[in-house]
Amino acid sequence: MKAYAVANQKGGVAKTTTVHNLAAGIFERTGNKPLLVDLDPQCNLTMACGLSSDEVGKSFYDFIQGAPFDQVGHDLGYADLIPANHGCVHAESWIENKRRGRQAVLAGRMPEIVSYGYDFVFFDCPGNLGFVTVNAMVAAARVLVPLQCEYYALEGMAKLAEEVRAIQEDGKAVEIAGIIPTLWNGTTLNREVRNEVRRAFAESLYAVRIRRNVKLGEAPSHGKHVFEYAPESHGAMDYSELVREFLSREG
Ligand SMILES: Nc1ncnc2c1ncn2[C@@H]1O[C@H](COP(=O)(O)OP(=O)(O)O)[C@@H](O)[C@H]1O
Ligand SMILES: [Mg+2]
Repeated sequence: MKAYAVANQKGGVAKTTTVHNLAAGIFERTGNKPLLVDLDPQCNLTMACGLSSDEVGKSFYDFIQGAPFDQVGHDLGYADLIPANHGCVHAESWIENKRRGRQAVLAGRMPEIVSYGYDFVFFDCPGNLGFVTVNAMVAAARVLVPLQCEYYALEGMAKLAEEVRAIQEDGKAVEIAGIIPTLWNGTTLNREVRNEVRRAFAESLYAVRIRRNVKLGEAPSHGKHVFEYAPESHGAMDYSELVREFLSREG
């Protein structure tokens, strides 16, 4: 099993979109269901998967507090999901208030996930570098960074890399497994920023660019991934290419 924290402290850079469509695409290609974990109290992934956060019952917050996996997991057909609900806003302070092992609460729950035999697990992180995100990085040991190649993207990337280094210095294995350009317009700025990212992070940078595509924005409001909602769209094409590249790097 390989696990990934899909993280970027900036909101709106396509973390959730990437988790959902990468997972759906992996299922289409391999027939194996990944596990998705919605760690964001905004519940965007949960809703994009067609669930109502008010009705999901137990959430990842219950799971980190010890609720058994079979009470929190939902079968979506193409993936399993540990959802979020609005109560998850309290997870951050609950972790912070722990005396010891604050970075490794989620890691402590990984053996139960491992026992279910998933090939891939994706943690959809909130848009900050708080305790929940750090817990995901420590539990997963691999970080995937969706990056919008705009002003300040490099500064944001440097800060995230600094956080990863700080976790390593605490003796935990964690690495940036990939940087995925998203919301791509093909502008000069996009290309310049991408070149700078390549200079700084070399082999971590994915070759694929996920273009802006209106279908990717529409699909979540129908509770669908892009391969179901608009299989012929550029969005489906780009995520399919991401799946191919991901599996060749990580599979
Ligand atoms: N390639 C894309 N083209 C158009 N809209 C996109 C694309 N990727 C994401 N979006 C939309 O942009 C918004 C932010 O994406 P989201 O995945 O929620 O970001 P994050 O999880 O990083 O906050 C959402 O409304 C989403 O539907
Ligand atoms: Mg999100």
